[in-house]
Amino acid sequence: MPFKLPFTPEQASTFAGDVDRLTFYLVAMGTFFTVLIAVMVLGFAIRYRRRSPDQVGERFDGSTLLEVTWTVIPLLIVLFTFAWGAKVYFKMYRPPADAAEYFVIGKQWMWKIQHPTGQREINELHVPIGQPVKLTMTSEDVLHSFFVPAFRTKLDVVPGRYTTMWFTPTKLGRYHIFCAEFCGAEHSRMTGWVTVMDPGAYQDWLAAVAVPSLPAPPGESGEQIFTRLACGSCHREQGSVIGPTLHGIFGTEVELTSGETVTIDESYIRESILDPAAKIVAGYQPVMPSFKGQVSEDEIRQLISYIESLPGAGHAATTGESEGVVR
Ligand code: CUA
Repeated sequence: MPFKLPFTPEQASTFAGDVDRLTFYLVAMGTFFTVLIAVMVLGFAIRYRRRSPDQVGERFDGSTLLEVTWTVIPLLIVLFTFAWGAKVYFKMYRPPADAAEYFVIGKQWMWKIQHPTGQREINELHVPIGQPVKLTMTSEDVLHSFFVPAFRTKLDVVPGRYTTMWFTPTKLGRYHIFCAEFCGAEHSRMTGWVTVMDPGAYQDWLAAVAVPSLPAPPGESGEQIFTRLACGSCHREQGSVIGPTLHGIFGTEVELTSGETVTIDESYIRESILDPAAKIVAGYQPVMPSFKGQVSEDEIRQLISYIESLPGAGHAATTGESEGVVR
């Protein structure tokens, strides 16, 4: 049943309506009693005002009826409120058994998300409509909080611990993710988008994103490391809005957001893997996470060799792949 307060965000999950009804009830009760008490204070002050200087008030020894009334009625109201709130709470914090499990890692200042089938995203979460989604979340550094207003769901993301929340999206579209816990200088920019898709479109989307393989056997090639770390999900052959292409860049000069230019060589690539924000290519945002601690120096070396070997667009034909097919 559609029920919408004019000042609330879109309702895009199964419990958005529950939360809005409860909120509306609480605001209505608060308003009702505020007005009731204010009117009675004013009304009694006028009605029982002193009319002449020698007027004296009558003695009043209490009323059991009045005291029972103003105890029992509020008690029933708060018990009703408690029962209603508890019902919504339990619905929101008990994920159904068939919910698909997504992993969310918060870190200063981004959301890293992994799908049940292995696909990874940063500051984006694609989900199918009408199917329960369970988020298992943790933090790599400080407290964050995963908040999707359109789903009316928010939960702390805590270092060293998993927290879980769930929702079932009910409406196609793109909805804001916010970090709702102050976590440092760029807390306000730790945002992202949930994209709710038709199940068919979601399957197509999954198929189009590379799945990183499981933990590396020793001695894997640069290409295998590149695939395992899902570098290609942002650094596509044609580039993407998230990251520039790595094809044919080795040895070329590139302009940075600072206005400087830098030659793309081993040390620039190594720095960009370990400290990606240090030198951002002009036109891109510093969204890449550091891979410090995740790759050994040997693996970095392999990655550099692999990137060095990637042909530019003009050489695509020599690889035997037809252009436009490779993603
Ligand atoms: Cu993360 Cu605020």
